[in-house]
Amino acid sequence: MSDGPNQTEIVDVARTADPSRGSFATNFGFIMAAVGSAVGLGNIWKFPYITGEYGGGAFVLVYLGCIAVVGMPLMYAELIIGRRGGSDILGAMRNLAPPGSAAGRLLSYLTGGMAVASGFLILSFYSVVAGWALHFVAVSLGVMPDATLGADGTFKAVSGSKSLSTIWHTVFMILTMTVVAGGIHRGIERLCKILMPVLMLMLVVLLCYVGYTGGLGQSMTFLFEPDFSKLTTAAVLEALGHAFFTLSLGMGAMVTYGSYLKSEQHVIRDGVAIAFLDTLIALMAGAVLFAIVFSAGLEPEAGPGLLFITLPKLFVEMPFGVIVSTGFFLLVVFAAWSSAVSLLEVVVAYFVDEWKFPRTHATWIFGGLVWALGIASACSGDVFDFLDNVTTRYMLPLGGLAIAIFAGWFLSEKDQVSGFVGYGKIGKVLEFLWLVTIRYITPFLIVVVILSKTGALDGVLKETPPEQAEPAVESVESGESGESGESGESGESGESGESGELAD
Ligand code: TRP
Repeated sequence: MSDGPNQTEIVDVARTADPSRGSFATNFGFIMAAVGSAVGLGNIWKFPYITGEYGGGAFVLVYLGCIAVVGMPLMYAELIIGRRGGSDILGAMRNLAPPGSAAGRLLSYLTGGMAVASGFLILSFYSVVAGWALHFVAVSLGVMPDATLGADGTFKAVSGSKSLSTIWHTVFMILTMTVVAGGIHRGIERLCKILMPVLMLMLVVLLCYVGYTGGLGQSMTFLFEPDFSKLTTAAVLEALGHAFFTLSLGMGAMVTYGSYLKSEQHVIRDGVAIAFLDTLIALMAGAVLFAIVFSAGLEPEAGPGLLFITLPKLFVEMPFGVIVSTGFFLLVVFAAWSSAVSLLEVVVAYFVDEWKFPRTHATWIFGGLVWALGIASACSGDVFDFLDNVTTRYMLPLGGLAIAIFAGWFLSEKDQVSGFVGYGKIGKVLEFLWLVTIRYITPFLIVVVILSKTGALDGVLKETPPEQAEPAVESVESGESGESGESGESGESGESGESGELAD
């Protein structure tokens, strides 16, 4: 709480006691790493398909609102907890809990424990999906024998094959562990400083390409012209949930990265930059995807199969299709790689800071365990769906709720405001707005999301007419072949986890 008697005596120095923990060398490097964490499958795969399902413009507008009202305040909260706490998620919260407050300590342990578990579980299935993208890169390049299978064939071949899924998952985990083992500066910062600008550049090139081949205008209209008659309660809840996932909030990823910051001087500005870039990249990816979909005369509601089934089908027919396809799936791999690194870093930081493991040991031991668990997801769609649901529906929102409550009600005032210092009057206004939001609004909205996912609010919230979920899958297919069920959840996915992965 902020009313401790010795407010002025609290050291105004963040706890960066241990320089051997490593740190980001530059502010730019930190921003790239955080953007790398935020930009992932959520931006390139999920954002476009949920925007397609929920009707475009109006959904995008609500999503932007959620980023501003829930995402940004929580982003600041996580960064400042990490920066001031100077440790892994659990340690940072424990360091900042009011002395003698049993509730504060309890909250630190519960939140920290759940956050580390979330990182562990999410990475295990995230890596499987990233592995599929790797497979598509290989197929696009013609390296793999099944390049002739066609898009749905390729997707079924990899997602339905235990051995292929496992092999690519293994490759992806090795990539991820190699970076994390390299440390904050030499591993993570270096990777993201290269990967993120390259990713942006690739997106710009793809945008120019679709600007040239057509469909971009239609795509822009779809994304930016709101039609509020299409807006439903379900859409709003989805937007709110996704704001979380896409900014990597709710499991201490930003706390952990914040703890490697050298100063809190720019936390506000950085947080805004991270949210802005994440949103920009999602919108750009959406613009590219829908341009391709529209120019082929298809409808935007393909559902989860949009990225892995609809698009590759279209790539085949496009001019320079091989290059575009390879470039596109490389983009997906890059985005997923830097996100996976942040998921593993949360786990590794915990074992390094709390249990004094050497970084390399922690990386290979716990990364290895994640890999082993991931094999279960690679081989069983049920395991995959279960882990996906538990983490994105419940653990992340709960984690976000706990972090918001901790930041709003348990942090000392000094810690709370430390990121606003030096911004004069504007800083004071922002500080006030942030405090009100993080104390009341953010927790309230998160509780609504969690309750709605458990079905507890079914009578209260007017539910969406179910029509938009179902024909959605068919509509793209009808423009294409007759074989049904190849995209997403309604398909014959049962045993292979090719369904609504990660969807929350
Ligand atoms: N933000 C990433 C995406 O959009 C996923 C991700 C990475 C994540 N790290 C996270 C989500 C931590 C929640 C918490 O794909």
